[in-house]
Amino acid sequence: MKYENPRIAAVAAQLRERFAELTDKSEIAKAIELKALYAEIPTLPGEQRGAFGKEINQLKAELEGMVAAHQEVAEALPPLDVTAPFDQNTDATKRPELLGADHGSQHPLTSELGNILDIFYRMGFTAVEPRELDDDWHMFSSLNFPEGHPARDDYDTFMTIQTDKDGKRLIAPAHTSTMQNRAMQMFRDNLDNGRPIAVVVPGRVFRNEDLDARHEHTFYQFEGVYVDKNIHVGHLIATLKTFLQEYYQQELEIRTQPFYFPFTEPSFEFSLSCPFCQKKGCNICSYVGWIELLGCGMIHPNVLKMAGIDPNVYTGFAWGGGIERLIMMKHGIEDVRHFESGKLDFLKQFA
Ligand code: DAH
Repeated sequence: MKYENPRIAAVAAQLRERFAELTDKSEIAKAIELKALYAEIPTLPGEQRGAFGKEINQLKAELEGMVAAHQEVAEALPPLDVTAPFDQNTDATKRPELLGADHGSQHPLTSELGNILDIFYRMGFTAVEPRELDDDWHMFSSLNFPEGHPARDDYDTFMTIQTDKDGKRLIAPAHTSTMQNRAMQMFRDNLDNGRPIAVVVPGRVFRNEDLDARHEHTFYQFEGVYVDKNIHVGHLIATLKTFLQEYYQQELEIRTQPFYFPFTEPSFEFSLSCPFCQKKGCNICSYVGWIELLGCGMIHPNVLKMAGIDPNVYTGFAWGGGIERLIMMKHGIEDVRHFESGKLDFLKQFA
């Protein structure tokens, strides 16, 4: 539509542009510029009013036409069901095959996490959930990583642009150890009442990894923290061994090797005999018969102090390890990427 009057033409161009951006398209017919044009009619010399008014009416009709056309298109599309697991417009024969709604099932991570926690509850532990966005202090400093320490780089962290109150970037936690300080403070009173701190923290963690069958950017860990008087490495090993034998329902051998973590001293890498092949060698354990399962050690005195616990009176142990790896060994799953893939072929095996 072309308008003779240059001001009406200018308003028309302006409103067409605005129309594209409006969420509620019907707003365009109420534009203040259109009302201003109408208000101008009585101020014009009598002989111009007719032509001016006719063009404004045409502009109004054009705008109403645009609103109506838009509504027609919107109504022609089926309403979007944001919960639908596939595009509703897909031909019925090409839709993915789904489990019937009455046969829905838990994701293996959910059901196995339930089994894991159940064992720890029976051993007297309490579960605490971590956050999915945390600060530099909980990720590193509270765990005895000094500023600029190279061990910070081992974690390949994802950071946000937003910063915390200290001006440090927020971090998608790369380990559940972010909760050690909180867990100890939360249950600090237990010690005064003659009871241990016994906390397990299952949670989602994130690392900027190169992905392969053993590495995923998003995975789950379970952290353990235990503090009391006279706690030593023997308690650590017995706790983990008891848990693992219960989880795999079989006798297992375990192996510890010295390792380094800033937050434990001494620190260990904890391995167990492959529960899938009983040490005979299989593709799950890369034919070595042993699986490195988690990191652990005696909680560093500085970490205890930062949680308000006197390391001269109390000692404790902690561990942290991947949950997917535990499940993979239980069920012979060869690729960690299956867990986050949402592949129905994989999930149906656990239905
Ligand atoms: N946070 C460590 C990691 O993800 C694992 C770990 C090691 C946790 C030793 C602990 C520990 O609690 O004591 O690499």
